[in-house]
Amino acid sequence: PHDHDDSHGADAAKGPEGLRKGLTNYGDQGFSLFLRKAFIKGAGYSDDALDRPVIGITNTGSSYNPCHGNMPQLLEAVKRGIMLAGGLPMDFPTISVHESFSAPTSMYLRNLMSMDTEELVRAQPMDAVVLIGGCDKTVPAQLMGAASAGIPAIQLITGSMLTGSHRGERVGACTDCRRYWGKYRAEEIDAQEISDVNNQLVASVGTCSVMGTASTMACVAEALGMTVPGGASPPAVTADRIRIAEQTGAQAVALARQGLTIDRILTPAAFENALRVLLAIGGSTNGIVHLTAIAGRMGIDIDLAGLDRMGRETPVLLDLKPSGQHYMEDFHAAGGMATLLRELKPLLRLEALTVTGRTLGEEIERAGDGFAQDVVRPFDQPIYPQGGLAVLRGNLAPGGAIIKQSAADPRLMEHEGRAVVFENSADLANRIDSDDLDVTADDILVLKNIGPKGAPGMPEAGYIPIPRKLARAGVKDIVRVSDGRMSGTAFGTIVLHVTPEAAVGGPLAHVRNGDRIRLSVKAREIALLVSDEELAKRAAENPVVEPTADRGYRKLFLQTVTQADKGVDFDFLRAAKTTGKAPERD
Ligand code: FES
Ligand code: MG
Repeated sequence: PHDHDDSHGADAAKGPEGLRKGLTNYGDQGFSLFLRKAFIKGAGYSDDALDRPVIGITNTGSSYNPCHGNMPQLLEAVKRGIMLAGGLPMDFPTISVHESFSAPTSMYLRNLMSMDTEELVRAQPMDAVVLIGGCDKTVPAQLMGAASAGIPAIQLITGSMLTGSHRGERVGACTDCRRYWGKYRAEEIDAQEISDVNNQLVASVGTCSVMGTASTMACVAEALGMTVPGGASPPAVTADRIRIAEQTGAQAVALARQGLTIDRILTPAAFENALRVLLAIGGSTNGIVHLTAIAGRMGIDIDLAGLDRMGRETPVLLDLKPSGQHYMEDFHAAGGMATLLRELKPLLRLEALTVTGRTLGEEIERAGDGFAQDVVRPFDQPIYPQGGLAVLRGNLAPGGAIIKQSAADPRLMEHEGRAVVFENSADLANRIDSDDLDVTADDILVLKNIGPKGAPGMPEAGYIPIPRKLARAGVKDIVRVSDGRMSGTAFGTIVLHVTPEAAVGGPLAHVRNGDRIRLSVKAREIALLVSDEELAKRAAENPVVEPTADRGYRKLFLQTVTQADKGVDFDFLRAAKTTGKAPERD
């Protein structure tokens, strides 16, 4: 039998401890190990199987999560990879969060999933963990949890869905979902057609096929060095995806043997690379919130000014919807992240370590030369000369706001207009389609109370629909401002993440119908043309009462959630001490 020295400390650095990991649930460490082995042997394991690096695998399969619908195949392949490399795979369930099946919002549940992941990784004996996620909030939740748990970890992406075909046109979730719904709202297509296209938008299991949050976080995870090379792009149902899963399992065993902990991967350099990639792929604005939260777990601050500076020098190279034309499967066929990273190399921190134990620079070298393709542009022929995202400030957003300029109408990026204000989502739903709504295409739609605390969970309601009477008249874009988020698959001249939010008394709370608002992306400004005195008077007249809850998760959420510029994480989950600084080069 094994010895009873179950202690951590110096031994922990020597490599895998298997089931011996210093967990004590019964006071007596030896007895605790004895019981662990007795119980796991009840499942038929031999001493030989147990005396190996133990690799945990988060099983996030769920009937409510078709984005993870390939979980059985992925688990089988990850386990094969682990066993071929001499490890013992142990999968365990955690929460699974799908965008469309998470009320009030998936963001509301992201932190819960991160806590579940962190605590189960910490509680159960494992030398490394494979995190399997794909749908928008799952990858950030897992990286947040694993960052806090601190053991060696590797991310496996479930992969994108295939595209479908509707009456000869290629379609995919969910840029086309919005486009078709917009046509239906504008009465350009009928009930039969909207029902037909509903069968085609999601053509297989897997994550949204455009550059939404899921694809963004897949690319970001690879840029962070948290996946095996090429781990971002293979679609969910392909042999390539299964091979990546097998390789991920094998690499997890190597990580365990080397004791390569996550803090050596998630460094300021890695976050800088992730932000560069986010900008170069025209990634989802949600990616900023998630990266801020993940970095916060490592004690690293991502500052918006630094992001904006990077944005000014990072071109958009990836031609994917909604900024461009293609879908994730095309990106994969074009070589995936290897092709992108090769072009982006001059801007990357090549010394950043990855889960392979090699640096990002070494991985780019190993990927070799590229080939002719039309999905990733050469560095000097970008689809958009500057980063897709810009950070705005001004008296309407003292803590910052974001605009995805690559998805905005260039005509509206320097614009002043009259505010048409909606107090909350219900107010918007009640009035947006009314023929009586006093609105023109030159106005600026303002939606309050959809921030982190306001809704709560900062819903993706920042993509305010074009008022029906304008949509019918052919208006395709209008300036919109809110404290919410928008789906990475959406497009338009949309100012998001206004901080501080209305629900905590930010200036947004005091905007009134008819106020003038000025948007200048060039000057990085979002200004409410109302005097400080008048705003102070309004605040005194109508003091904001912050939302509260009596019990449960909602109470915890409302009491501890931070603003967008802090990643919408719970304040007590951030690293206790700030150790890093803004991930940017000088
Ligand atoms: Fe899961 Fe889009 S709904 S990735
Ligand atoms: Mg989304």
